[in-house]
Amino acid sequence: MRRLVEGRSSASRLAAVVADGGRGGVCGRGSWRLPLALLVTLVATSPAAAEEPHRLLGVSSCASAGCHAAAEAGHPPWHSAFTVWATRDPHSQAHRALEGPVAERIVAAIAARSGGRPQPAARAHPACVACHAPGLAASSREGVGCEACHGAAGEWVVAHTLPDWTTRGNSAGMVDLADPATCARTCVPCHVGGAPRADGSTMEVSHDLIAAGHPRLAFELRGFKSGVPPHWRDRVALAAAGTAPAADVDPLAEWSTGRLVVLEAYLAQTARQAAAAPGATDGLLADTWPELTAFDCYGCHRQPVATGDRGQPVAPSRGRLRLEPAVWSLLDRAAPGAGAELTALRADIEAAWWLPPEPARLRGAAERLATLTAAGRPSGPAPSRALVEHVAAATDPANWDEVVATLAFLEAVLDHQRVRAVPAERVAAPAAALADLRRLLAFEAHGVGAARVRFSNPRGHDPSAVRGALTAAAALVGSLGEP
Ligand code: HEC
Ligand code: HEC
Ligand code: HEC
Ligand code: HEC
Repeated sequence: MRRLVEGRSSASRLAAVVADGGRGGVCGRGSWRLPLALLVTLVATSPAAAEEPHRLLGVSSCASAGCHAAAEAGHPPWHSAFTVWATRDPHSQAHRALEGPVAERIVAAIAARSGGRPQPAARAHPACVACHAPGLAASSREGVGCEACHGAAGEWVVAHTLPDWTTRGNSAGMVDLADPATCARTCVPCHVGGAPRADGSTMEVSHDLIAAGHPRLAFELRGFKSGVPPHWRDRVALAAAGTAPAADVDPLAEWSTGRLVVLEAYLAQTARQAAAAPGATDGLLADTWPELTAFDCYGCHRQPVATGDRGQPVAPSRGRLRLEPAVWSLLDRAAPGAGAELTALRADIEAAWWLPPEPARLRGAAERLATLTAAGRPSGPAPSRALVEHVAAATDPANWDEVVATLAFLEAVLDHQRVRAVPAERVAAPAAALADLRRLLAFEAHGVGAARVRFSNPRGHDPSAVRGALTAAAALVGSLGEP
């Protein structure tokens, strides 16, 4: 059976209906104007969508006042989601990064890698658009819009306003972002790297692009979720206040799931790099091993390692070259079940870093991690004080990435305790200690206007101050588990 609402023109017609919030469109719950036949078709045909990509409608489909464009004040998060995204979320500006001198420099670096062949401008470049402007070509000025995270809305835009809609397990393509593994898998293709898309656009930020001015990519699920202005309910706060069931919230599981999914994406990316035809000179992935983003930036660079900074690389020594700690730190905590295999894999790559690792082995490890993530972390008691202090003591305070991984762990332990009814007055001191540590690790920007440089790591990183703050925070967070 052919779908009634097939093709672009009917999709935009539908979008127009939905965007018509002011005058009784489909969104103000209860005010149905869409013909019932169309609704039934939309809902009934959704399973067929597994065979073809779901249709994108563009951000305007979500933007009426009756839907998600209410003012922030006085409205619940779901109602003002568009407003928050459009006014404060960097994703709504992601296409702008493709205009300007930094983008031109980056594209020039690609040209240099491709034997000087002329390149399209960044805003149309297949090496940029998949992450910065993934919407419909015509509306790609929406940057990273709702559908880039929530899934193409063609098959669910109407259905998700029905009273009996559930996001979990739906077959219409709406992504269940409240599930940590699903959420992390949605973010990592853009924030770690992902497979090329069907239209040939690539999703990889290599060291060449970073050296030409692109910020380095690194991802931590909980940290990055809190790094954008949230347009969703803070379920940890709700559970801590007793207004949502604590059983639904598991900060430690979210933390460990995030780490596993990052490693999974990284192994898949490394497998693609290692498999890329050796000797070829064209294309971003060609002949890329050793791709330096796989390794610890500080193994070669004196701090700061920054976008646009003249931070000098130092001669790498065998002893110091190691795999990127932002990916590998604390995996023994996040993935106890895979510890031995991961340690062996890591040691093998590091021992012969100049050889591309065996792609099949990397893919195998990624697949086993996916199984582990799907199984979920068993909800148990919080780690003991001794364990928390041990993790902090084992962290290299000079290595920003490693400290950030530990900070994220400590924040997850604190949230775990908050949700499990540790009184607010006991949480205040460890929370303040973690805020101090966070401040010591904060990025610094300098310059003004177009000359403003955002550092990918802090300048003036002070290992002894970091060691002190880390030790203090770990003792306080660890003690929450004790009566
Ligand atoms: C794998 C996805 C991906 C690809 C491919 C990609 N980018 Fe990015 N880009 C990002 C992310 C994610 C950020 C933000 C990084 C952060 O701050 O953590 C970013 C940031 C930037 C910034 C800095 C923006 C700012 O506000 O400071 C510029 C400029 C940029 N990208 C240009 C480009 C250009 C030009 C290309 C194509 C050659 C490109 N990017 C390809 C993901 C990507
Ligand atoms: C960068 C990814 C991203 C983009 C872009 C994005 N969202 Fe979300 N959204 C999320 C995540 C993640 C959650 C769920 C977080 C959670 O439950 O912990 C969410 C949750 C929501 C919720 C549920 C709110 C609640 O808790 O009740 C709504 C509604 C929503 N988004 C609407 C939108 C709309 C509308 C847009 C576009 C204007 C949009 N989102 C763009 C990531 C995104
Ligand atoms: C389609 C690609 C894409 C997806 C999916 C995506 N992002 Fe982004 N994200 C970007 C780009 C591109 C930027 C840079 C925007 C800019 O500064 O111009 C960015 C920026 C950010 C920033 C700001 C970083 C900084 O240095 O200020 C955070 C935080 C972030 N994303 C979190 C998330 C989270 C959490 C998710 C998943 C729920 C997510 N993103 C999904 C592409 C994406
Ligand atoms: C194996 C050593 C090595 C590793 C690991 C490495 N780099 Fe580099 N990096 C270099 C060398 C050599 C150069 C100079 C040549 C070039 O531009 O590629 C350089 C150049 C750069 C530049 C440009 C500096 C300038 O003067 O303009 C930046 C920025 C950069 N690297 C960032 C990073 C980041 C971020 C990481 C970690 C994700 C990293 N590097 C990992 C060796 C390394």
